[in-house]
Amino acid sequence: MAGTGLFAEILDGEHVYKYYADGEWKKSTSGKTVAIINPTTRKTQYKVQACSQEEVNKVMDLAKTAQKLWAKTPLWKRAELLHKAAAILKEHKAPIAECLVKEIAKPAKDSVTEVVRSGDLVSYTAEEGVRILGEGKFLVSDSFPGNERTKYCLTSKIPLGVVLAIPPFNYPVNLAVSKIAPALIAGNSIVLKPPTQGAVSCLHMVHCFHLAGFPKGLINCVTGKGSEIGDFLTMHPGVNCISFTGGDTGIAISKKAGMIPLQMELGGKDACIVLEDADLDLVAANIIKGGFSYSGQRCTAVKVVLVMESVADSLVEKVKAKVAKLTIGPPEDDCDITPVVSESSANYIEGLVKDAKEKGATFCQEYKREGNLIWPLLLDNVRPDMRIAWEEPFGPVLPVLRINSVEEGIHHCNASNFGLQGCVFTKDINKAMLISDAMETGTVQINSAPARGPDHFPFQGIKDSGIGSQGITNSINMMTKVKTTVINLPTPSYTMG
Ligand code: G3H
Repeated sequence: MAGTGLFAEILDGEHVYKYYADGEWKKSTSGKTVAIINPTTRKTQYKVQACSQEEVNKVMDLAKTAQKLWAKTPLWKRAELLHKAAAILKEHKAPIAECLVKEIAKPAKDSVTEVVRSGDLVSYTAEEGVRILGEGKFLVSDSFPGNERTKYCLTSKIPLGVVLAIPPFNYPVNLAVSKIAPALIAGNSIVLKPPTQGAVSCLHMVHCFHLAGFPKGLINCVTGKGSEIGDFLTMHPGVNCISFTGGDTGIAISKKAGMIPLQMELGGKDACIVLEDADLDLVAANIIKGGFSYSGQRCTAVKVVLVMESVADSLVEKVKAKVAKLTIGPPEDDCDITPVVSESSANYIEGLVKDAKEKGATFCQEYKREGNLIWPLLLDNVRPDMRIAWEEPFGPVLPVLRINSVEEGIHHCNASNFGLQGCVFTKDINKAMLISDAMETGTVQINSAPARGPDHFPFQGIKDSGIGSQGITNSINMMTKVKTTVINLPTPSYTMG
């Protein structure tokens, strides 16, 4: 159970959790806490420490000092500790999954999957790090005009320093470790700022790293109000790299952050383009999985269907039939559709639905909401003048736009300010490749819904969807910089024999 057994030391009284710094669990001297509201009950489920700016300063100093030693720790030892943390994480999947259910209303089975996937991600990162960080380059000077063979250049990858990791509410554990593990294997230290919803899941995950035996100060986790420590963290001179996943806040962070590498995964309006020759049963299954899993609260969710008019009626009927089978209710019952993360999120989704109603969209189901629980809704005959055609609901509401040409679909996809992923359904691989080339998104899936995983695949957005590329290998590389040493020989070099 969360906060019990091995996890008892992270708790401070009933349902109040400590923050983690210098290898210890601490209470904030602010004396204040931040409440975490359970999206299902809409009551306070947990509380976390409201850390102060002074505490952030201390953590930054600790992280800086710990990183210097960690960078000198042999790579195989760093990998060994990560493997250990991964095993502990997987062993304790149940209490962590319980927190995910209570904090972010993720369905019970998906919550367990998130933790297991996270353990696998940590192990894979350890393996990958050992391979790619164990290699360097050797260059000689005489390949560049005007040079003799008198300079030998050796390159290797060195860590950046302190990495600030800010994961989002929808994958607080998985998207935290996707930042923590690459940072650590590469020799960096970590300051983790979890999202408020998801903070307790993150604290449990951090405790698994603590139990694995990482050095003090290397991993730190500060909780608190964005208004108090958000900008303070992202603009802190002690931060050498920011890895952020979330919404528009990432754009603001990018504008304010200093001259440091940024890895940003922001929103998406992933289009699903359906051609006339597509296997409509396959499309319908992928629309359900892509559009409605975790109630549409995934950056890679299918967020707009662009279907050729000639097959639109048939596709809409198939999707409607599948929507009718979705189970709706609490995450504890492992329902398909669970309450969205907050009341403000539910209100935002409702605003998009009302706008679509006023402008004449066809409602394939009746709109229904109870508290934060919104019933799945397919909106047909959506037109470009409706907000839902462009904005991401981050909820179980999916618009269908009927198109008369492939070009119209590509145009809609590319007119979005987002460019995360997209997908195209057709049996014609040549057409699919041409459409993929034309779509201005970081990834295009052919005949499947958008998705980030498997976690070693490159994952990136363009335009307002992000900066840099993720995936295990790219993250390790992004959290290092190249160091070169040049051996200068006396001229001219002599010949043997
Ligand atoms: O919400 C953003 C996540 O990166 C999406 O990950 O495709 O595994 O659901 P996923």
